[in-house]
Amino acid sequence: GSLSRTILSSAVVMAMLGVSAHASADTWKMALGDAAGGTQHELGSTFASLIEEKTGGEITVDLFPNGQLGSEQDTVNNASMGLLDLSVLAINNITPFSPSVGVMTLPYVIRSPEDARTLTQGEIGQEMVDNTVRDAGVRILGWAYSGCRRLTNSAHPVASPEDLDGLVIRVPKNEIMIAAYQAWGVNPNPLAWSETFTALQQGVVDGQDNPYITIDAMKFYEVQKYVTDSCYVFSMEPLIIGEGMFQSLSEEHQQAVLEAGAEASEHSYEYLLAQEDAIKQRLVDEYGMEITEPANDESEWVELATGIWPQFYDSIGGKEKLDEALTALGRDPA
Ligand code: MLT
Repeated sequence: GSLSRTILSSAVVMAMLGVSAHASADTWKMALGDAAGGTQHELGSTFASLIEEKTGGEITVDLFPNGQLGSEQDTVNNASMGLLDLSVLAINNITPFSPSVGVMTLPYVIRSPEDARTLTQGEIGQEMVDNTVRDAGVRILGWAYSGCRRLTNSAHPVASPEDLDGLVIRVPKNEIMIAAYQAWGVNPNPLAWSETFTALQQGVVDGQDNPYITIDAMKFYEVQKYVTDSCYVFSMEPLIIGEGMFQSLSEEHQQAVLEAGAEASEHSYEYLLAQEDAIKQRLVDEYGMEITEPANDESEWVELATGIWPQFYDSIGGKEKLDEALTALGRDPA
């Protein structure tokens, strides 16, 4: 009857507003852009067990892998509006909402897992947390460290930028990454992560870049043959919570959430160091991928891509932001 329809529709509206989820049950939903089995899932499931333990079961978390809850960029909007509790997504997909985070995705700034940890765990990392709260309405609780992004393609080995000639490469919808490929002489195709596997499979694009662990978790070896062992961007994947949601928690639960995030990040770092080499080897031995070393120690790639840095000084908050990052990493200012 009309009464039950009214009840139903207000329940739907409440759910859409995230109201009932937060007021009654304390089971949170966590979106993952990647399939289960990669670094996003490792961070997410570690966070889930920690938060359950720290709150004596008052908060539990359900994970929804494979972009089930929307594209990575959609999950930022949804978390900020209170429609979703948590999400783990690649840093490059948060940059469009908070451009200052771009200092972390400028090519060849972060060159190793250790660099990634130094920046995220230091003052610069704290600034990123504050900036994304301010600009995007989401709070970074922790980081998955996923490894360097490696270029894969289905056509031929790529050692130098000129080998990209004729290939259509998928990139995230991220201005910095688009500009890097343009500097290497090709026009990449910006596509949402959730559409990438299908685009590779159907040959809409020939290649993409992501870390070994992600290539494995996403089964890209089924549709890609060649991997270039390069490292132009290091993939860091923040775990975010809607800021409204965070502020609505008791002080005790806020503390538990922050601690769980920090401990899960530490675990993610150890996981990367322990797993990456074996996964790389498996891609070759079991799945027949072929790894190509970048020519001349990657020097042409580096030179062309770092040439785009000045185009992004304004968006990252000034050249001094890049210099702070380089200095924190023990390198010379730009
Ligand atoms: C992307 O390429 O859009 C992301 O790095 C994918 C991911 O989250 O692993």
